[in-house]
Amino acid sequence: MKPETVLVTGGAGFIGSHTCVELLEAGNDVVVIDDYSNSHPSALDRVREITGKSFAVYEVDLRDRAGLSAVFEAHPIDSVIHFAAKKAVGESTQIPLEYFDINIGGTTNLIRTMHQHEVTRLVFSSSCSIYGDSSAAPLSEADPANPTNPYALSKWMCEQVLSQACVYIPELSVIALRYFNPIGAHPTGRLGEDPLGVPNNVMPYLSQIAVGRLTELSVFGDDYPTPDGTAIRDYIHVVDVADAHRVALEHLDDRDGFRVFNLGTGSGVSVLELVAAFSKACGKEIPHRIAGRRLGDVASLIADAANIDREWGWRTRRDLADMCRDAWNFQRQNPEGYPV
Ligand SMILES: NC(=O)c1ccc[n+]([C@@H]2O[C@H](COP(=O)([O-])OP(=O)(O)OC[C@H]3O[C@@H](n4cnc5c(N)ncnc54)[C@H](O)[C@@H]3O)[C@@H](O)[C@H]2O)c1
Repeated sequence: MKPETVLVTGGAGFIGSHTCVELLEAGNDVVVIDDYSNSHPSALDRVREITGKSFAVYEVDLRDRAGLSAVFEAHPIDSVIHFAAKKAVGESTQIPLEYFDINIGGTTNLIRTMHQHEVTRLVFSSSCSIYGDSSAAPLSEADPANPTNPYALSKWMCEQVLSQACVYIPELSVIALRYFNPIGAHPTGRLGEDPLGVPNNVMPYLSQIAVGRLTELSVFGDDYPTPDGTAIRDYIHVVDVADAHRVALEHLDDRDGFRVFNLGTGSGVSVLELVAAFSKACGKEIPHRIAGRRLGDVASLIADAANIDREWGWRTRRDLADMCRDAWNFQRQNPEGYPV
């Protein structure tokens, strides 16, 4: 791959920090912007430590047009990977306008600033949540979107904005990756998922129980139409997700326009199966109790992951045991998360 200068928005976050490692190890120059609203600057120190490479970092809110523009003026940016967003489904039902402003407004601001600076190549973080409560399993990119909460809607709207931008600005090349459920951590145990506040996602919740920071997992719903009644998700290792971004960059020049790919393993795992796999990895029973279904949750989301394999020959390389081992390794080494 030809080394490029890649702007990574939200680079201090869970997926962003792992992607920075992949990009730097592939020889690229990296520039990060983040407002640290859901991350720690120390994650970026760890990226430097793992890779032995330095890179520029700016504390900028994605919506700050002048601040963003200054970053494009300071660096010869070839392409952008856009992670920065708010991502909690439940929270998005409480503060929907904040989600629309940051996720949609921030993306509009970014693509506009890119256009002003003649940057045409973008990889965008989308989400399987846009499929909503679909009865199709597995879900292919051709299945209809049916967002059931403001977060999912914001991601779907971003895809629409970017797709339309590509129609009217033909030199643009945009790849949207619809992630299923990224979990796990860097195998060194130096990077991982460390959300601010009480975790919204199941894996950091499990690992914080295992180190004694939380007491019990609430399993939201055991009456779904699934074999054990708990919700099924397609978990994917965060290092596989990061690797897919490196590969997506290589394919931005294949052709102009808007393309979308699912990013999952193609296999479903229930909440109870995940609890069992994590218990095995950490060697402790994880206390859990059945609670009612959570508003906005759906029974099953499994990727049809054939498209990205067919087009790019890319597939995941890490399994559920790897995901649980690495997530536990990070939490064990960093029981209180990143140093503040
Ligand atoms: N983690 C998942 O389960 C998942 C699933 C599907 C899609 N995604 C998408 O992937 C992307 C990254 O997710 P993540 O899990 O790494 O989340 P994260 O919260 O760990 O990372 C997001 C980063 O963006 C930053 N940020 C947020 N708002 C910003 C703003 N206005 N300006 C600048 N920086 C801002 C945060 O501080 C954080 O560092 C998001 O777009 C998310 O919607 C995540």
